Amino acid sequence: MATSLFSSLLFLFSFIPLSIADSGSVGINYGRIADNLPTPEKVVELLKTQGIHRVKLYDTDKTVLTALANSSIKVVVALPNELLSSAAADQSFADKWVEANITKYYPSTEIEAIAVGNEVFVDPNNTTEFLVQAMKNVHSSLVKYDLDRSIKVSSPIALSSLASSYPPSAGSFKSDLVEPVIKPMLDLFRQTSSYLMVNAYPFFAYAGNAEKISLDYALFRENPGSVDSGNGLKYNSLFEAQIDAVFAAMSAIGYDDVKLTVTETGWPSAGDENEVGAGAANAAAYNGNLIKRVLTGNGTPLRPKDPLNVYLFALFNENQKPGPTSERNYGLFYPSEEKVYDVPLGMAGAGSTPVNESKAQVPTTERGVQSRTWCVANGKLGEEKLQKALDYACGEGGADCRPIQPGATCYDPNTLEAHASYAFNSYYQKNARGVGTCDFGGSAYVVTQPPRFGKCEFPTGH
Ligand SMILES: *[C@@H]1O[C@H](CO)[C@@H](O)[C@H](O)[C@H]1NC(C)=O
Ligand SMILES: *[C@@H]1O[C@H](CO)[C@@H](O)[C@H](O)[C@H]1NC(C)=O
Ligand SMILES: *[C@@H]1O[C@H](CO)[C@@H](O)[C@H](O)[C@H]1NC(C)=O
Ligand SMILES: *[C@@H]1O[C@H](CO)[C@@H](O)[C@H](O)[C@H]1NC(C)=O
Repeated sequence: MATSLFSSLLFLFSFIPLSIADSGSVGINYGRIADNLPTPEKVVELLKTQGIHRVKLYDTDKTVLTALANSSIKVVVALPNELLSSAAADQSFADKWVEANITKYYPSTEIEAIAVGNEVFVDPNNTTEFLVQAMKNVHSSLVKYDLDRSIKVSSPIALSSLASSYPPSAGSFKSDLVEPVIKPMLDLFRQTSSYLMVNAYPFFAYAGNAEKISLDYALFRENPGSVDSGNGLKYNSLFEAQIDAVFAAMSAIGYDDVKLTVTETGWPSAGDENEVGAGAANAAAYNGNLIKRVLTGNGTPLRPKDPLNVYLFALFNENQKPGPTSERNYGLFYPSEEKVYDVPLGMAGAGSTPVNESKAQVPTTERGVQSRTWCVANGKLGEEKLQKALDYACGEGGADCRPIQPGATCYDPNTLEAHASYAFNSYYQKNARGVGTCDFGGSAYVVTQPPRFGKCEFPTGH
């Protein structure tokens, strides 16, 4: 029966919050430590079709920044750790870097922040001593180009910068970091209206402590919650507890006013045997529930009025990352652009672009969805699920399924995947490629190349 599918579609639409204006935002990290990723142009199309309006990079790669030009996607770029000592030692190095790597692309490419270094305190090359001066020099360069109000300077810190994170109210920074780097950095954020960047992975805490931490708590599912013995506040997710530990650490040294963005968070869809909790179902639950949580617009127990802003880690599985299996399996997409698991990302896009309720109900092309995209079936899914989705598309869905009838132009190849793809694409085009119209309960995904099934031609919109 098509009913369950239809209700799951309704379920997706019902995620759209009534008041989107003050909800948080969801972006994604576009890491590229892989030898099999699509071209940056294709990646930008993918981001648009998925309704993702914010992306974070780990460098200032020319092809990537050029592909992002005029896309309306906001971009966080990075000055890599290897350049910190040069940027700290020499203002003219920072000036040249900003000139070559920022002003050359801005404003066509909407760079909104520069991550100066990444997880610098745990860099085995000991670059911590250069961090604050490098940030100051990059900021001074931005001032010279009159870009300091448009582009913020920050630096993602790992959660391991904390000496204590439990209970959250007892959060504190490692004492050897406080005077040399944390305070000067937070002072700089204050002076420049910037914010702290934090990489937070409840997965690590869970995997290391699975016998003590409930999986439901780690995945934002229904759970009894955990009460902070320090202040009586109740936590319903490990993620919120981790973020509040950082807020508490800032408060403890007098920085109650500095804001925070979560620049990385994610859950691996696969891992080694000892990586407890890694897996596609958990990854889908974590990311899906995180997006819903962010889009409520509610802050954390300690900062209830500060909406959460997060960047998921990561866009793609990256096959050349070293380390345990999980490291190569954080992606929401395979390099083929097929989804690793189903997450309603379109909703993330809706959250960062104010749209009113009536528009959200009627799929439109207004949210940057391009006409040269197609919808195809995920052939790896079970036949039963696919057949139900096909029945829905051709029935209530109103797709044009005449070409896949026996003897018609697209009957061959006579496979469920080919027929479902034809029907899903018809539905998707008919609904103007709107957000959520190529999903079918996770049975379908968007592609930016014309699908090939025998001699059958898949229509596009225009
Ligand atoms: C972006 O748009 C601007 C203004 O229309 C144009 O001058 C520029 O060439 C475009 N950049 C790219 C990379 O397409
Ligand atoms: C621009 O950035 C790249 C990569 O971060 C770096 O190698 C290059 O030196 C930068 N250009 C300048 C002029 O600093
Ligand atoms: C440490 O620095 C060396 C020399 O610049 C570089 O080759 C290496 O990749 C760096 N290691 C890390 C982990 O950044
Ligand atoms: C970093 O500092 C540690 C401790 O001071 C030292 O043992 C190590 O050799 C240093 N590493 C590099 C690459 O300088």
